[in-house]
Amino acid sequence: MRVLERRFVQDFIRMANDGYEQGWHERNGGNLSYRLTDHEVDSVKDRLLDHGEWHPIGASVPGLAGEYFLVTGTGKYFRNIIMDPEACIALIELDDAGENYRIRWGLVDGGLPTSELPTHLLNHEVKKRVTNGKHRIIYHAHTTNVIALSFVLPLNDEIFTRELWEMATECPVVFPEGVGVIPWMVPGGKEIGIETSKMMEKYNAVIWAHHGMFCSGETFDLTFGLMHTIEKSAEILVKVMSMAPRKLQTITPDNFRDLAVGFNISLPERFLYEKKD
Ligand code: 13P
Ligand code: ZN
Repeated sequence: MRVLERRFVQDFIRMANDGYEQGWHERNGGNLSYRLTDHEVDSVKDRLLDHGEWHPIGASVPGLAGEYFLVTGTGKYFRNIIMDPEACIALIELDDAGENYRIRWGLVDGGLPTSELPTHLLNHEVKKRVTNGKHRIIYHAHTTNVIALSFVLPLNDEIFTRELWEMATECPVVFPEGVGVIPWMVPGGKEIGIETSKMMEKYNAVIWAHHGMFCSGETFDLTFGLMHTIEKSAEILVKVMSMAPRKLQTITPDNFRDLAVGFNISLPERFLYEKKD
């Protein structure tokens, strides 16, 4: 079976296209990476190139030594992935120090993995450790409404989480641990990757102010679903804030406490603060 026909490659392509259709990937905006299972690596190994040169990752990820990732290419448009996946995405292998990578498949017209590779891999390294290897996907999207909110809400985890939770009853069930927010930073490097991966120790979603969002998850469905839920909630909040200076009614801290009991989840009290009018 060709690499392209493998289920994980097909699922990757579908998710990228779903994100494009949501309007989150103008031009080359956003990037996606998937950490292969050992079984998936074995299933494609005899179809891979063996002569690619090693390139520095730009960050050190010893916890991912020897792992393989499917990643989007830098400058490639999500819009084109479904039409020409072999030109837009790549399968990369990390060396046994977790310092360098080489391309083993894809990017047939040339190119390199996403410029956000340091952030993706630093996040993967944290998530592999804290989820016992369960999380395999890191997804970055330019989610319009989340970006809009980063201009009007304080850049604070508690406030963003609480405001997003209030907009849809399912939110605290989907992301009970909350969302992290980091202030504007220069993208595409190790520094923003380190700050994001620190947040990934406790959150599955991290907002980059005035830029977009990163989500982590176990499956393509869960990761896309998390991005979709947060962005939908942000859209409702943008509408509410555009309609009236204040809400007439909302989901209260005690409502959230009741929800936590009903759904058997724990909602940290730091998000359930009393608001001053
Ligand atoms: P790449 O094209 O390098 O993936 O960059 C897109 C992006 O969203 C940068 O944050
Ligand atoms: Zn971006």
